[in-house]
Amino acid sequence: MAAIMMRVGAGPFASVRVYQPILRSVAVAALRAVSLSATQSLPERVKIVEVGPRDGLQNEKTVVATEVKIRLIDMLSEAGLPVIEATSFVSPKWVPQMADQGEVMRGLHKKPGVNYPVLTPNLKGFHAALKAGAKEVAIFGAASELFSKKNINCSVEESLVRFEEVIKAAKQEGIPVRGYVSCVLGCPYEGKVSPNKVAEVAKRLYSMGCYEISLGDTIGVGTPGGMVDMLNAVKKEVPVEALAVHCHDTYGQALANILVALQNGISVVDSSVAGLGGCPYAQGASGNVATEDVVYMLNGLGIHTGVDLPKLLDAGSYICRSLNRRTNSKVAQASCKL
Ligand code: HMG
Ligand code: MG
Repeated sequence: MAAIMMRVGAGPFASVRVYQPILRSVAVAALRAVSLSATQSLPERVKIVEVGPRDGLQNEKTVVATEVKIRLIDMLSEAGLPVIEATSFVSPKWVPQMADQGEVMRGLHKKPGVNYPVLTPNLKGFHAALKAGAKEVAIFGAASELFSKKNINCSVEESLVRFEEVIKAAKQEGIPVRGYVSCVLGCPYEGKVSPNKVAEVAKRLYSMGCYEISLGDTIGVGTPGGMVDMLNAVKKEVPVEALAVHCHDTYGQALANILVALQNGISVVDSSVAGLGGCPYAQGASGNVATEDVVYMLNGLGIHTGVDLPKLLDAGSYICRSLNRRTNSKVAQASCKL
């Protein structure tokens, strides 16, 4: 009997005696359960859209040096991120942190095969982005009237008119446009948001010509059930291949929400290195889900991302040191990078 009993490790579990073959078979059964059920409907590969340099930094109160932003973007491209949202061409009066958008775009070292989209709320922003060398832009609408008003100072309908102008100009220049819908699982001013309203705005952006629609849980209040209901409504209007999820982690639900989104056909996920971020016009919203944590989860599920996790951890460590801030990534904390 002694031969088949073992002591597990040291520390608090040192005295636990377990029957080794049972432990092994339980572990194998658990793995099989994961591979047969959870991964059955998962994508083979996921495109990660890194939003740290924009969404991550836009809410920082102290102005981050342009060189730091550029270095961060370059470290992220070295880590294999295929899309890095670099900055936003918004009013510097509204978001002072993004006032150096032109210098950032001109200073970053463009890596072949990597896209560096930027936010453009209107034609003025679009033209400035074009001048700074942007090859892709993103427009950002909302499923909530009050949030739209606070964030971009117009109603949802008015924003769609402005976005149509941007899309028209972008088409002429051969520039792809990504569309955001904010507050898809809740609004800081209106509370509950109807999945049908989300579907309606997503449909409008897609019909105008956005090639991808990112569904933003701006304040991170959603839970997996709400995510599935919302996706079911949106999928009736927009092909699932053109959808992305953008989860903030305020209530610690982001990874769970992303997992159910993947199980529901989504294969594009937005995230922010070190879990930085928040929206200046959504009080209390914490950062996006940390890219390190998303990559770790996807690696565990055998889903390809092309991202080198150690290099990504270095990028997270770099920006946290620069901001004198502790990382929000659990994986980085566990890896003792900070
Ligand atoms: P407004 O004040 O209504 O605009 O702001 P306006 O057209 O009346 O112009 C006012 C002034 O802004 C003028 O300058 C314009 O030239 C200037 P002045 O004559 O007073 O000197 N202006 C601009 N300057 C630079 N770039 C521009 C631009 N447009 C006008 N593009 C506006 C309207 C949309 C500009 C403003 O509300 C704004 O910039 N909002 C941006 C807010 C923002 O960036 N929020 C965060 C991003 S959204 C987000 O984080 C959510 C997301 O992550 C998804 C999710 O989590 O759900 C995407
Ligand atoms: Mg966001």
